Amino acid sequence: MIDDIEIREATLDDLPEITSIFRDTILAVNSRDYSEAQVKAWSSGANDIEKWEERIKKTYFIVAHVGETIVGFSYLTKGYYLDGLFVHKDFQRRTIASKLLRIMESKVSINGFDTIKSDVSITALDFFDSHFYEVEKKQKKSLKGLVFENYIVYKDL
Ligand SMILES: CC(C)(COP(=O)(O)OP(=O)(O)OC[C@H]1O[C@@H](n2cnc3c(N)ncnc32)[C@H](O)[C@@H]1OP(=O)(O)O)[C@@H](O)C(=O)NCCC(=O)NCCS
Repeated sequence: MIDDIEIREATLDDLPEITSIFRDTILAVNSRDYSEAQVKAWSSGANDIEKWEERIKKTYFIVAHVGETIVGFSYLTKGYYLDGLFVHKDFQRRTIASKLLRIMESKVSINGFDTIKSDVSITALDFFDSHFYEVEKKQKKSLKGLVFENYIVYKDL
């Protein structure tokens, strides 16, 4: 556990660190549960800079940092939908995602919704289970011509 994790809203200056975390975490962590071709295709989403700029500008996008280093990020769309949650590959299991998730859950309540929802990877399922999320369904999603298995989860707040 690290004591000095701080959380703030992302800015466009954070974009290179955010996209590096996205790419490296998928390649190093999600590769436990997805094939080489799948993680290659998924992580290549880091190169779509315009999409990341749009996410930072238009969604509720927060980053966790330790000193100057960004160690995780998350973004919320539609007021209640947790669209992304990634922790730096070298900072896994140090409560960073739990802290980001707590803020997102509060934000969803502030936005006037009773339920938070997300689409989560096989890799993240145990994390969400430990935070009392229920599985609505297991699904298959297509990305760049490949099929990915993941789960829709929710929690009543
Ligand atoms: C899932 C993820 C966000 C969790 O981040 P994290 O900062 O490591 O999570 P925390 O340290 O807050 O975990 C809190 C608790 O969740 C559970 N948990 C987290 N990761 C787990 C795992 N891989 N296996 C089992 N339990 C896990 C544990 O109970 C953990 O507490 P513990 O470490 O005291 O046992 C991180 O592993 C990640 O970035 N995964 C890859 C990206 C991803 O799949 N994101 C999901 C959206 S697609």
